[in-house]
Amino acid sequence: MAAAPDTGKRCVIWFGNPGAREKVMLAADGWQVRAVLPQQPAEIGMRDGDVVVGLIDFRTSSDSELERIGRLTAEHRHMPLFALTPADDGHVLHPLLSSCQRQFPHPPDLKDLLRQLQLVGADSPAPVVDDVMATLLGESDVMLAMRATLRKLAPVDLPVLITGETGTGKEVAAHALHRLSPRGSRPFQAVNCGAIPSTLLQSELFGHERGAFTGATSRRQGLFETAHTGTVFLDEIGDLPLDAQTSLLRVLQEGTIERVGSNQPITVDVRILAATHVDLERAVEEGRFRRDLYYRLNVLRLSMPPLRHRQGDIDLLSRHFLNSFRTRHRIRARGYTTQARQAMERFDWPGNVRELLNRVQRAAITADGELITSADLELAGDGTPDAARLGNARSHAERETLLSCLQQSRFNVSACARLMKVSRVTVYRLCRKHQLTLETLR
Ligand SMILES: Nc1ncnc2c1ncn2[C@@H]1O[C@H](COP(=O)(O)OP(=O)(O)OP(=O)(O)O)[C@@H](O)[C@H]1O
Ligand SMILES: [Mg+2]
Repeated sequence: MAAAPDTGKRCVIWFGNPGAREKVMLAADGWQVRAVLPQQPAEIGMRDGDVVVGLIDFRTSSDSELERIGRLTAEHRHMPLFALTPADDGHVLHPLLSSCQRQFPHPPDLKDLLRQLQLVGADSPAPVVDDVMATLLGESDVMLAMRATLRKLAPVDLPVLITGETGTGKEVAAHALHRLSPRGSRPFQAVNCGAIPSTLLQSELFGHERGAFTGATSRRQGLFETAHTGTVFLDEIGDLPLDAQTSLLRVLQEGTIERVGSNQPITVDVRILAATHVDLERAVEEGRFRRDLYYRLNVLRLSMPPLRHRQGDIDLLSRHFLNSFRTRHRIRARGYTTQARQAMERFDWPGNVRELLNRVQRAAITADGELITSADLELAGDGTPDAARLGNARSHAERETLLSCLQQSRFNVSACARLMKVSRVTVYRLCRKHQLTLETLR
C-alpha cells in the first residue's frame, strides 16, 4: 500500500473540561483534544513532529490545580500555552497567565481560538488536510461532526458507506476520504452504478477478455484493476445489479476479481467506498440487495446532513459560491438582498448544496442589480411556493411536481432534471418511487 501522507499530528492539551461543541470544532479542524483534569495525575506525552498546544482553563481551575498545571507545563517550555479566562480577566492574577501567549475571555470566541491555533500549527502545516476540508465547507454543528467523523474514518482501511440525500456532497466526501487516507496519492476511480446499463457494468467494473461477448474485440482492464492500490468509489450502490453484487462480495471477501470471459482470479488491493441515497436496509428486506454484501459495506458509515438541517451554512455557502463565481466571471452581482437571504433560509433545498450552487450561479448571471433578489434566485418572496414545488418531499406534492415537470419537458429526463434542479439519477429514482414508467407515459 502507499505510504501515509505526512499530515502531522496536531493536539490540544486541554487543562480542564472541554465542552462537546468545543471538542467537535477542534476535531473538525484537525486537532485531537486531550483533556487533562488537574486533579488527576497526568503526563504530557509529545512526539517529534507533533504540534501540541496547551490550553489552560483558568475559569474552572483552583489555585492548587493551577500550581500543578504550572509544574506540568514547565517541563515542556517550548509548548505554546493559551488561556481561557473568566469574563472579567482582572480576577486572574496567577503567574501562570504570563506564560500564556493568548487569552480568550469568557465566552471564548472559538473561531478566533481556531485561527490562533492554526497560526501555531503553521510551522508544520497539514496542507493536504486543509485543501481537502476546504471542499466540504460548513460551520454548522452537524457539518463539524461530519468532518470530525470523516477524519476518523479516512485512515482506516475498511469500506465506508456514505449516505445522504441528493446533492449533499457524498461524492466530495468520498474523494476527501480517499485523499486523507494512506492511499491518497494512489488512483481514485468512481463509478455510478445506476448510470451504466447492467449488461455493461460487470465488464466496466471487472474488465473482460477478448471475445468474452460480441463486440469485445480486445482484452480490457476494469475499474478495479485500474484502481489497484487505490480506492474505488461505487456511487448509487443500491442500483448495483445482483450479479455484480456477487462479484463485489468476492472482492471484499477474497480480494480478487475475474474478468468477464475468464475464470482466472486476479488479486486487487482496493479500498471500497460506496454511496447511496436509498434505504439499503429496505432494499435488503425486499431482496434487491444482498444482505451479506450490505454487512460488509456497512462497517463504517458517514452520513451527509441535508442543507436544511445545517444552521447558518446556507448563508456561508451562498456567499462562498457567489464570491468564487465572481473571480471567474465578470458579473455585477456582489451580494444578496435581505429578502433573498431570508428566502434562502426558509427554502427547503430538496437538491441540497448542488441546488444552492446552481441557483446562485444562474441568479448571478441573470441579476440586473448588484444585489441578487429572491426573484433572481427563482425563490418566491417567502420561499413557500417553490418549497412546495418539489420541496418538503411530501409525497403527493412530489409526485405532482414530477409529473408536471416531466410533461413540461416532454418526458426528456435531462430536461426534466434541469427543470427540477436535481440530477438525472434523482429523476429516475423519483420515477421509480412514484411508480411512473417513462416508456408508458411517453
Ligand atoms: N460542503 C460543501 N461545500 C462546498 N461545496 C459542496 C459541499 N457539498 C457539496 N458541494 C458541491 O455540491 C455539488 C454536489 O455535491 P456531490 O456531487 O458530492 O453530491 P452527492 O451527494 O454526490 O449528490 P447525488 O446524490 O445527486 O449524486 C458539487 O458541486 C459539490 O462540489
Ligand atoms: Mg453523487
